[in-house]
Amino acid sequence: MLSPDEQARVARLVNAEARARFRAARIAMRRLLAGYVQLPPDQFALEYGKHGKPRLAREKGDAPQPLFFNLSHSGGLALFAVGGAGEVGVDIERIRPLRYPADLAREHLSAAERALRPDWAAGDARPEFFRIWARKEAMLKAAGLGLSRPLARVDTIRGVLDGRPYWILDLVPGEGFAGAVACTRAPAAVRRWGWP
Ligand SMILES: CC(C)(COP(=O)(O)OP(=O)(O)OC[C@H]1O[C@@H](n2cnc3c(N)ncnc32)[C@H](O)[C@@H]1OP(=O)(O)O)[C@@H](O)C(=O)NCCC(=O)NCCS
Repeated sequence: MLSPDEQARVARLVNAEARARFRAARIAMRRLLAGYVQLPPDQFALEYGKHGKPRLAREKGDAPQPLFFNLSHSGGLALFAVGGAGEVGVDIERIRPLRYPADLAREHLSAAERALRPDWAAGDARPEFFRIWARKEAMLKAAGLGLSRPLARVDTIRGVLDGRPYWILDLVPGEGFAGAVACTRAPAAVRRWGWP
């Protein structure tokens, strides 16, 4: 099902697990999108934005594409978002040990985000930290920017990036994971599915 450039990416991945995960996520994404574009999963092309965000390829003169999607993977989980409201971004993060939570909070969180906890070094700050982190990445991915912007400049409290408002939804995609979906417009409805 993979295109030649996707197969080339698989071939470039040296780690067998990374190869299997990339392939599995891409095939799942193609199957999911196939239902929306009404084409077999290997019969549509993807193209990439300036910072690597995949989107459906358009022919010259096509109407603006009304289908937006994004993908995130972490550990053995993948999260996909598909929508028609506006550009969408998703992120999942495995909640993992934080060696210097106070330093990480100072470096990556905005003042308003840091104020959510009186002391980031006290107690277990990980669920809160990764919830905020997932929101930041989801917003940056909705904007197509990826990690090309300092995370501290992404305001997940007001949901604003570069002066533009974002709709944000927190998710718990699995035990021990934090996740978020961000969109440039509030969707009329949200449906959630899970696959084993
Ligand atoms: C996008 C990015 C934040 C991903 O972070 P991550 O936590 O490691 O990975 P995630 O699993 O959450 O997301 C990866 C997926 O996001 C999508 N993606 C890639 N770049 C993206 C971007 N700029 N915006 C939104 N989504 C992007 C892809 O589908 C990718 O998965 P795939 O390559 O297996 O299809 C990070 O790779 C990044 O900052 N990329 C931008 C790099 C850049 O600026 N390059 C410029 C030169 S091309």
